[in-house]
Amino acid sequence: MKTIVVYKSKYGYTKKYAEWLAESLGCDIKDNASLADISDYDAVICGGGIYAGRINGAKLITQNYGKLSGKRLALFAVGSSVGRPEELEAFWEKALAENIRDRIPHFYLRGGFDYGRLGIIDRLMMNMLKKMLLGKDTLTEDDKGLLAAYETPVDFTERKNLGEIIKMFD
Ligand SMILES: Cc1cc2nc3c(=O)[nH]c(=O)nc-3n(C[C@H](O)[C@H](O)[C@H](O)COP(=O)(O)O)c2cc1C
Repeated sequence: MKTIVVYKSKYGYTKKYAEWLAESLGCDIKDNASLADISDYDAVICGGGIYAGRINGAKLITQNYGKLSGKRLALFAVGSSVGRPEELEAFWEKALAENIRDRIPHFYLRGGFDYGRLGIIDRLMMNMLKKMLLGKDTLTEDDKGLLAAYETPVDFTERKNLGEIIKMFD
């Protein structure tokens, strides 16, 4: 089976997972891939960072789903949130249309967050989120964790998080 890992990563967390995956599977890897780049492959694993609930680069396989019939597909989304089951259920409902949610195996992997490295637009968005959090009456443990990450960078990437995906494609 000819497999490729394709990904989009702004700050390197998805890139790290994609590189680990390609290394473990002994397969090709491509950043910012196009439809032409994946046409010769039997299996495509697509990864992207989560930005305001959307998966960066996922549309390569979601919007082209009809053109990829016969290929094995998987999608992994990399975010900084804890990834609790109820939170993930709501996330996937929004991120993947119902007609393809059951057909594309999808995985959440925890990435990281470093406020100091953010570009100007991302910084503005995260400032808005911080203001919103600070205006809440009570903060959850996750809220507190997120606020702490503005001060101290966090990186939750771990190679072992890829176990399930590797099992599927090995
Ligand atoms: C503007 C902005 C919005 C974000 N929105 C989310 C989000 O909705 N859910 C989440 O879990 N993480 C969110 N994050 C955190 C990123 O998903 C996280 O940093 C991820 O590891 C980025 O991966 P990348 O560097 O490969 O793009 C956001 C980060 C930024 C800067």
